[in-house]
Amino acid sequence: MTRDNDRPMKAIILYDSRTSGGSTDKLIDMIGQQLAESGAYVEKAKCKATADYSFISEFDVVIMGAPVYYLVVSSQLVGALVQSNLRKCLKNKNVALFVACGSPEPLALTFYLPQLKIHMIRNRILAEKVFAPHQMGDPDSVADFVEEIDEAYQKTFKPRASDLEWSSEATEMLNQMPPFFSSKIRAALESYAKQNGIKVITPEVLDEARSSPMGF
Ligand SMILES: Cc1cc2nc3c(=O)[nH]c(=O)nc-3n(C[C@H](O)[C@H](O)[C@H](O)COP(=O)(O)O)c2cc1C
Repeated sequence: MTRDNDRPMKAIILYDSRTSGGSTDKLIDMIGQQLAESGAYVEKAKCKATADYSFISEFDVVIMGAPVYYLVVSSQLVGALVQSNLRKCLKNKNVALFVACGSPEPLALTFYLPQLKIHMIRNRILAEKVFAPHQMGDPDSVADFVEEIDEAYQKTFKPRASDLEWSSEATEMLNQMPPFFSSKIRAALESYAKQNGIKVITPEVLDEARSSPMGF
């Protein structure tokens, strides 16, 4: 998960929950861990309605979410969007949104997620997700969300002009892989090719990189 293939994505998770050590805390840890495993730099911050959010300027992606209590998304996050400088600091940021709740997804998409979305005025929403109770400890559900963020984030960059060429066979191989996986392989192979003075990436380069002692 790199920006222009040379800098790790920096993500901040802004969240709220009434319950310390509850399902949201566990969900946040899982999202953070999966993002970190995919190469991102991640921090998390529990929201306060009146805090100063200027620190989010240093992050590429802001992930925001909270549970629903009595039909309302947890108050410190929504409060921060209304009362603090959070909304101003979010201007033109890439964001991802989630809510955790006990209601069925269609209901949550209609009534709960919009409570966050309505504040996203000049934002690119990379992903949005409703986590039902059974999904909150489920690594696959979290992985879907993390992958969606990653793929949408990668698309925010134009391909960089490169000295490297890809043979049609190597391009074909890459196209057959899932996008989340192929973007990692592309970045790793280009890095390997640069380190080894290779100008054209072919399937043989892939084999060579795989068997190299450094791996890739
Ligand atoms: C007091 C209370 C009120 C809740 N109200 C709603 C609700 O109105 N709609 C809903 O879908 N889920 C509701 N839930 C379910 C929570 O959103 C869900 O269990 C969430 O995962 C709790 O997060 P937490 O463990 O971090 O507190 C409520 C839960 C509690 C404890």
